[in-house]
Amino acid sequence: MEIIDFLIKGLKRLEYRGYDSAGIALDAADGVDISIVKKSGKVAALEEEIQSRLKELNVDESSSTHVGIAHTRWATHGAPSEVNSHPQRSDVDQTFCVVHNGIVTNYKELKAFLTQKGYKFESETDTEVIAKLVHHIHTQHPGYSFRELVEQVVQQLEGAFALCFKSKLYPGECVATRRGSPLLVGIKTKTRLATDHIPILYGKEEHGLPDHRPHGRSEPLPMLPRNDSTSEFQPLEDKQVEYFFASDASAVIEHTNRVIFLEDDDVAAVKDGSLSIHRLRRSLDDPHGREITILKLEIQQIMKGNYSYFMQKEIFEQPESVVNTMRGRINFETKSVVLGGIKDYIPEIRRCRRLMLIGCGTSYHSAVATRQLLEELTELPVMVELASDFLDRNTPVFRDDVCFFISQSGETADSLMALRYCKARGALIVGVTNTVGSSISRESHCGIHINAGPEIGVASTKAYTSQFISLVMFALVMCEDRISLQVRRNEIIKGLEMIDEQIREVLQMDSTVQQLAKEMYEQKSMLLMGRGYNYATCMEGALKIKELTYMHSEGIMAGELKHGPLALVDNAMPVIMILTRDPVYVKCMNALLQVIARDGRPIVICEKGEKKLKPSLQRHS
Ligand code: F6R
Repeated sequence: MEIIDFLIKGLKRLEYRGYDSAGIALDAADGVDISIVKKSGKVAALEEEIQSRLKELNVDESSSTHVGIAHTRWATHGAPSEVNSHPQRSDVDQTFCVVHNGIVTNYKELKAFLTQKGYKFESETDTEVIAKLVHHIHTQHPGYSFRELVEQVVQQLEGAFALCFKSKLYPGECVATRRGSPLLVGIKTKTRLATDHIPILYGKEEHGLPDHRPHGRSEPLPMLPRNDSTSEFQPLEDKQVEYFFASDASAVIEHTNRVIFLEDDDVAAVKDGSLSIHRLRRSLDDPHGREITILKLEIQQIMKGNYSYFMQKEIFEQPESVVNTMRGRINFETKSVVLGGIKDYIPEIRRCRRLMLIGCGTSYHSAVATRQLLEELTELPVMVELASDFLDRNTPVFRDDVCFFISQSGETADSLMALRYCKARGALIVGVTNTVGSSISRESHCGIHINAGPEIGVASTKAYTSQFISLVMFALVMCEDRISLQVRRNEIIKGLEMIDEQIREVLQMDSTVQQLAKEMYEQKSMLLMGRGYNYATCMEGALKIKELTYMHSEGIMAGELKHGPLALVDNAMPVIMILTRDPVYVKCMNALLQVIARDGRPIVICEKGEKKLKPSLQRHS
């Protein structure tokens, strides 16, 4: 039963990410068959279902080896339902089962190919093609090992995936792989590990594996010489070892803090208690092994404590997280700012042609929020880009560009693809992430770790403030020698010194804000207006409102008001306006008057002691 407990707990640790169904696959007592249980809705419902079917599941408690896989699904292909949840299976005998994070973009072609081969599909998912494809390749090459089969499968797949396979033909084995979606292996042994890294094994050169691509579109992969095959990870004498494959460390941290972050196209296989990591091809910059990282994450750090939601906890953590971002970097007495992760690259960055800040969602907003300050303090052109659009446009990038990739998780597929695009064109890559060991942090030339602590809530909050501060610190480093900018620089450093107290003060207004939010919640739509430094806050606020209330919301650049959006304003439309004592204060005041002239009843977010607002407006200010 331990395996059920482990898998269910792992799923629960990842519940915060949102999902609509869950499933599990386990060894049955005969040591051959696989039992699958799937359920729409919560993990708790899956747990209940498993309990009610325990007898029928017939889990063998005497066996010393158990392999199980489990998954929570957020519907992308096909509605949330049992049949569409994972694990997906190859056939009614459940010969191969797979769980999948990500999206297979060429699944239609693969489905057509497999249908032609006689496979009948039961779900609407893209994942089912993977289960069936592995089965198909097995029927063609029954001599292949489990790991070889998976290597063949992933060569046919396009898109992003992290996959974990189990098969009744290979009892006691598990194979996992990734491309574009995160995947790690946790290792738990009673004894100390004999090694701190696992060498990589490469494919054989002598007989390249055949190309199974349905349309033979791509060249068969060249096979490279294989390393000494003793170089896999073996537990010490007693062989007692547990391996955990997971998309996130929080699913395994209660069992072990020793993990390996897999790279794209790694195929990790567990067999006879040993773990090996394979790659089909060797690339020039590929290290010889995968490090075993000791995670510092404590279980308490990923617990909610007294808060109702992780997001609430993370909002209230901001007075500390912003300090952590600046700790050891800003010396408020000497006014010096040192960013260790990019220090050596500063001369090169100073010589660049332009800065490009690239990210998605909230991370993109942190770029918009700091752009003006970066332009002012670096005196360089600054482009801010949504990663997806940047890729769609095939944006020109040059060797003397410096590209910042901002990402809380460090794993967002569009940002990662944009990073690779820029890297291939010779630009200097700077990662700004919150996750050590993430793909973006590993693939960057240098970087700034925002150090906000784990962000578990799906809606990004404290990462945003820490991203903002990280980029401001970068601007401060860039202008440290500019005499003409010293007054401004010192003013900003002074502001940063007070920021934790100011956040604390704002957070004390929690119940007032909650009351206001209740009044506005029933509305269909909401506008947030501001300009200058505050425009990004409006966009970020609108994104949070959309994400959390499912209500339409729009961030509007107040300078654009008269060019269209004013038409939306009347006495029924909730409007929030941001008005601070900055260079665009007077212009914002004009916008406010225009809104009032249209009978709007704006809620104004302003600075403490703001006197210029009319008494009638001050009710909510
Ligand atoms: C919104 C939110 C998302 C993320 C975006 C990028 O609350 O969380 O918009 O900001 O998906 O994610 P990261 O920063 O991990 O690359």
